[in-house]
Amino acid sequence: MGTKLSELQKEKIREIDDIASVSFNQEQKAIAKKIIENTPDSDLHEVFNFITQRVKLGFVFDEAPEVNHDAVSFVRENENLNINITNLENLAGNIEHKLIIGENYDALKNLLVTHYEKIDVIYIDPPYNTEAMKGDGNDYKDEISANKFIYRDKFTRNGWLNMMNERLKLARKLLKDSGVIFISIDDREQAYLKVLCDEIFGEENFVANFIVQHNPRGRSLSKILAQTHEYCISYCRDYKNLKPFLLNKTDKSIAEYNRQDEKGLYREMRLMNGNRNFTRQERPNLYFPLYVNPQNCLVSTQRNEKYTDEVFPINSFNVEQCWTWSKNKIERENDLIVARKKSNGKWGIYRKDYLNENSSLTKTKTILADKMFNNENGTETIRKIFNDSVFSTPKPVELIKYLVNFVLPQSISQSSRPIILDFFAGSGTTAQAVMELNAEDGGRRECILVTNNENNIAINVTRERLYRVINGEGINGESIKWQYSKDKKCLEGNSVRVFEIETHELSLKDLEKAQDLTNIAKGELQKLNPEYDINDELKIYSELASLNPQKDK
Ligand SMILES: C[S@@+](CC[C@H](N)C(=O)[O-])C[C@H]1O[C@@H](n2cnc3c(N)ncnc32)[C@H](O)[C@@H]1O
Repeated sequence: MGTKLSELQKEKIREIDDIASVSFNQEQKAIAKKIIENTPDSDLHEVFNFITQRVKLGFVFDEAPEVNHDAVSFVRENENLNINITNLENLAGNIEHKLIIGENYDALKNLLVTHYEKIDVIYIDPPYNTEAMKGDGNDYKDEISANKFIYRDKFTRNGWLNMMNERLKLARKLLKDSGVIFISIDDREQAYLKVLCDEIFGEENFVANFIVQHNPRGRSLSKILAQTHEYCISYCRDYKNLKPFLLNKTDKSIAEYNRQDEKGLYREMRLMNGNRNFTRQERPNLYFPLYVNPQNCLVSTQRNEKYTDEVFPINSFNVEQCWTWSKNKIERENDLIVARKKSNGKWGIYRKDYLNENSSLTKTKTILADKMFNNENGTETIRKIFNDSVFSTPKPVELIKYLVNFVLPQSISQSSRPIILDFFAGSGTTAQAVMELNAEDGGRRECILVTNNENNIAINVTRERLYRVINGEGINGESIKWQYSKDKKCLEGNSVRVFEIETHELSLKDLEKAQDLTNIAKGELQKLNPEYDINDELKIYSELASLNPQKDK
């Protein structure tokens, strides 16, 4: 080769590298790169699409939404909409969240500049592609011209998948390498979304397809069955960095841990191995007597004047079983062993099993059936906050708290400032969930919401909700029925910086205008992330160019 690669060729090669190895193996990637290196920029988009569509498994997704190269779209703070932002820089203890009002594709591109690989958790609840959602601004079905499609039979579904595909590809780049994404979805698109996510995040990074019992009575919409559940699909950026998802304190399985001492909650497990394959014959070295001190129920491997009562691992059918721990282990960890008198008057020997990260029982189950996850709780919360049902499909706050807490438990959230992003924010449930979690465990989680302003929802619902839960009253002083807890009226100590997305005509040939816009964009992007700081002139132009907005539909 030896020839210099163009910027576009480099970008396409990076995209090839980004494709999950299950969809595109190393050999295929090498061939693809060779083709790209030998293709002129003018043909590169088509050739790239051709190569990736040929090799990928599963469905074929359409091209990205077209971008408008003669304009840039960047976030701009609207101070009039801010909530409790003061000029006193970073009031001690205050946590600043962000609300971006506008098309999420454009918002995600802005976030790529400021938050590349900086997001800990993404939760989204996109439109489920039901007819009822038609007209919410995401219906590309009728607009995609025939020549953009290779397989026309996927036409209508492709509209939805296209929309998700483009956004999820950007979202993946925002995730930290320990980051996790959760996507609520129902039966209509679940299977298709799963395949799409396999392709974007890699099958190897699939975490779970949670079943959420959102309506225990069932929706009457189905003629044959009562639909009681939907899903929450979850992927991580890199499976090897994922920590176990532990149960929350509210989970029922934790009820088994019904004893407590200075080391925490524990349950008692029988020390005798109840498995029939583990008898004295099979494990002779695990068959030995233990001695109980009847005064304090402590246990020793040696008999003496205090430890008098001899116990063997013999079950109720008089079968000689064995212990689960060796003599050595029992001596080493003797403080975990206790004896209890059973109803038949004989001694049972138990070991304490503390609730901790290694315990299998503390891992969460993939069916989320608790009533706190019912959708009607979301509706009820909205009703209390607004004294009215102003939004029809809010998620229950508890569901999002539960999910976020898997990835960002108290231990992580007190010591760092993790970021949670929701780019289909709707009524803003995710921000309320984040603020509530912080109030409960002293965490410092920050939330970024993105929502469009269909029917003025962003102003009348999203922002107003955040204002109300933070201040305990409406923007015009309206009193509300919602209260955070018995002794805490609202979620004070939080503020929200509100941005809108602004679009400017621009040709990068008009250097003077580009320079002016760059300066404005840079200042605004810095408000989105105060750590964002780019001084390299060339980089600024390329960052600005990356903010080309999606073409008007
Ligand atoms: C199902 S709702 C989310 C509800 C949310 N989980 C809650 O609890 O309130 C989806 C929201 O995403 C918004 N939305 C849809 N497409 C969007 C887009 N392309 N950009 C920004 N927001 C979008 C819609 O306005 C809608 O409010």
